[in-house]
Amino acid sequence: MTPAASGDRATAGGPAILEIEGLGHHFVHDGATVPVLRELSLAVRCGELVCLIGRSGCGKSTLLKIVAGFLTPTTGRCRLDGRPIGRPGPDRGVVFQEDALFPWLTVRENIGFGLAGRQWPRRQRQQEVDRILDLVGLQGYGDYLPRALSGGMKQRVALARVLIRSPRLLLMDEPFGALDAQAREEMQELLLQLVRQRRQTILFVTHDVQEAVVIADRVLVLEKDGGRIRKELAIDLDRPRDRGDVRFQACCARLRQWLRT
Ligand SMILES: Nc1ncnc2c1ncn2[C@@H]1O[C@H](COP(=O)(O)OP(=O)(O)OP(=O)(O)O)[C@@H](O)[C@H]1O
Ligand SMILES: [Mg+2]
Repeated sequence: MTPAASGDRATAGGPAILEIEGLGHHFVHDGATVPVLRELSLAVRCGELVCLIGRSGCGKSTLLKIVAGFLTPTTGRCRLDGRPIGRPGPDRGVVFQEDALFPWLTVRENIGFGLAGRQWPRRQRQQEVDRILDLVGLQGYGDYLPRALSGGMKQRVALARVLIRSPRLLLMDEPFGALDAQAREEMQELLLQLVRQRRQTILFVTHDVQEAVVIADRVLVLEKDGGRIRKELAIDLDRPRDRGDVRFQACCARLRQWLRT
């Protein structure tokens, strides 16, 4: 792995909460073995926002599914807080590109669904839903059905439903990929606010190099035919980050170059 290209802020400090070592995965398709990840290692520290970028088909979603516990890797070790990752659990929250809201439930009920299985008194449940509605900027929309919401608002609900469980690690797979530029920037803002307020640890997959440079502490670039992390760039720019700044653009150019080669 290439050392952090600018500054060493991300590698200093906090302990790693996610540790992946020598991870390998293959699918079997029509009787043939298709290797996707090979000998992949990475660590994410507490409170870090790490972005993962790479060509389409290189294995980003596969990696996230393994960390979420939806897939069992063929080889290697994957640990959260020192414990091996097995099945999905409340310590990990996942947000995908497509919103997965229940269309027949209101915003409030969708968010409350995140607490399914927890025996909380009704009042406490309601208070928690209100707090999270506030956090994601959806005060006043609690009684709406998903069909009455914009794409950005739906993604806020999807995020709220996961946040209400206070996961140790938030896994996001191109969560803003379907949003227009304005909604996307608002969601990036919201995410950064969460990192500031809750020290939320996030592993975030995106296709968008600019998005990675706006939000990430570190950007990891996967090899184009999958496999392992090929490059790593620590984004050592103050927030809020100015997209017009030469150093911002230099980071984007560097990542684009790595993606091309
Ligand atoms: N269930 C499956 N069965 C067989 N092959 C699969 C399966 N899921 C993924 N693959 C293959 O694994 C490879 C990696 O897929 P993955 O979805 O992880 O890529 P990705 O990096 O997330 O791509 P994108 O940027 O387009 O979302 C692809 O070649 C894909 O065809
Ligand atoms: Mg994907």
